[in-house]
Amino acid sequence: MTAVLEASHLHKYYPGVTALDDVDFTLQAGDVRALLGKNGAGKSTLVKILSGAVLPDQGEIRIDGQEVTIKSPHDSFLQGISTVYQEMSLVPGLTVAENILLGRWPTSKRLGVSFIDRKEILRIAREALGQLEVDIDLNQLASRLNVAQQQLVEIAKAISFDPRVMILDEPSSALPSEEVDTLHRVVRRLAEQGRAIVYVTHRLQEIPKVADSVTVLRDGKVIGTIPVAEATPERITQMMIGSDWQRTQWQRDAELGPVKLEVRNLNRAGLLHDISLELRGGEVLGLAGLLGSGRTELLRSIFGVDPIDSGEIIVGGVALNNPSPSAMKARGLGLTPEDRKQQGLVLVFPVEDNLTLASLRRVSARGVLNPGKERELAEAMVEDLQIKTASLAVKTRTLSGGNQQKVVIGNWLNTLPEVLMMDEPTRGIDIQAKEQIFALVRDLARQGLAVLFVSSEIEEVLDVSDRILVINQGRITHSRQHDEVNLEQLMALVMEEINL
Ligand SMILES: Nc1ncnc2c1ncn2[C@@H]1O[C@H](COP(=O)(O)OP(=O)(O)OP(=O)(O)O)[C@@H](O)[C@H]1O
Ligand SMILES: [Mg+2]
Repeated sequence: MTAVLEASHLHKYYPGVTALDDVDFTLQAGDVRALLGKNGAGKSTLVKILSGAVLPDQGEIRIDGQEVTIKSPHDSFLQGISTVYQEMSLVPGLTVAENILLGRWPTSKRLGVSFIDRKEILRIAREALGQLEVDIDLNQLASRLNVAQQQLVEIAKAISFDPRVMILDEPSSALPSEEVDTLHRVVRRLAEQGRAIVYVTHRLQEIPKVADSVTVLRDGKVIGTIPVAEATPERITQMMIGSDWQRTQWQRDAELGPVKLEVRNLNRAGLLHDISLELRGGEVLGLAGLLGSGRTELLRSIFGVDPIDSGEIIVGGVALNNPSPSAMKARGLGLTPEDRKQQGLVLVFPVEDNLTLASLRRVSARGVLNPGKERELAEAMVEDLQIKTASLAVKTRTLSGGNQQKVVIGNWLNTLPEVLMMDEPTRGIDIQAKEQIFALVRDLARQGLAVLFVSSEIEEVLDVSDRILVINQGRITHSRQHDEVNLEQLMALVMEEINL
């Protein structure tokens, strides 16, 4: 059988980095291939070469046995390849429907004049989103979508091309479990129709549900391709990391410090209802809830990014009636945002600057920047979080997605906060790096840091938190110590129907 897609001897070099090193990659019709590897292994580079966003330095690509040149996304599209990129790329000022049909808005002629056919745009967009079984207003501006919704719209867009080869670069990284299940069904259905699919992920537990086979990259090289039946988590991790690796159990300290953050009866019309919570030094508090349950909204309201209608936020014993991010920061609160591109990073700045942006006070004296100090803090964070970067001076946008995420976290850890709120901190982070981040967070907790964190991966919330709050329709519905609840029970609490 001729392969639908066959790439051979692909090489890609960047200054100081070999992103791909003699990569061969073959895909048959009906295949769902999981593409795995640590942060910076070369996954997105391979994706971008196949989709024409990046040119290889060497190598060739065949489609149905014919050699092709893919020099632009348009070339790739003409070959029937459609791609969901790791970084969201919706146009904020256009509606959901307009984004899905971007660049190919259907027209109709009236009296010899072409008009954009809005009805047709809505019809095609509705059908694409319908496949994903999600309810997103087609006329909503993309700028108003949260990250999960953006991700779903990007996937709908890729589906709407009716591609032969669909490439999905971490499509599930921002999706809560229910939406991930639907995505798996859609991917399986597309494969059964004879399409070939590449699926990049860091969530090992989804591999048996969605893939037929697995290719692992490490340091730009293909380590191997194995059928899913052989792809046990141990085997895959071994291939990804290159040595045996043991999960570490977290050390939980029984002794908690004083209350660092208190929220009393916080309300925001339609979104948050009468929320109260207490967070102590040394405590890691997880917030578990479905998409749209109010997780992100709660963190943003506490941090003063979004206004609140009523309620009290008390930091270190002092009530702040009018929370604003700068006032919160001054009181030792930090927030790592879910959308790193829009709110967390200045991508054209060097890695060094992005690691110290939030802690200017620490790296300057009397308003004068101390470059030595800046470098010292940045270097330490690159070491602690094992950030893969050619140097501290390169632009942050040259880092792989997961490494950019580490920079966002490192930036806030460098502020030495009293309370750190983290919204999806491990989005796009490989399993080893996750442990490093949480080890560091737990370490800081031992020194008195209080953490409030949100993750779409309920396993992770259960694994890392000392205590878990369940949020449902903007209300805190349950509170559990980590040893009071198992995964199934927590899932049930999160999905519970509440009658209001
Ligand atoms: N435009 C660029 N300029 C310089 N280096 C780059 C560029 N794009 C990628 N790289 C480097 O190439 C390597 C591979 O990056 P790539 O984005 O393919 O990793 P990845 O496997 O997708 O990782 P992640 O899981 O973090 O998304 C990294 O070391 C990255 O820093
Ligand atoms: Mg990537």
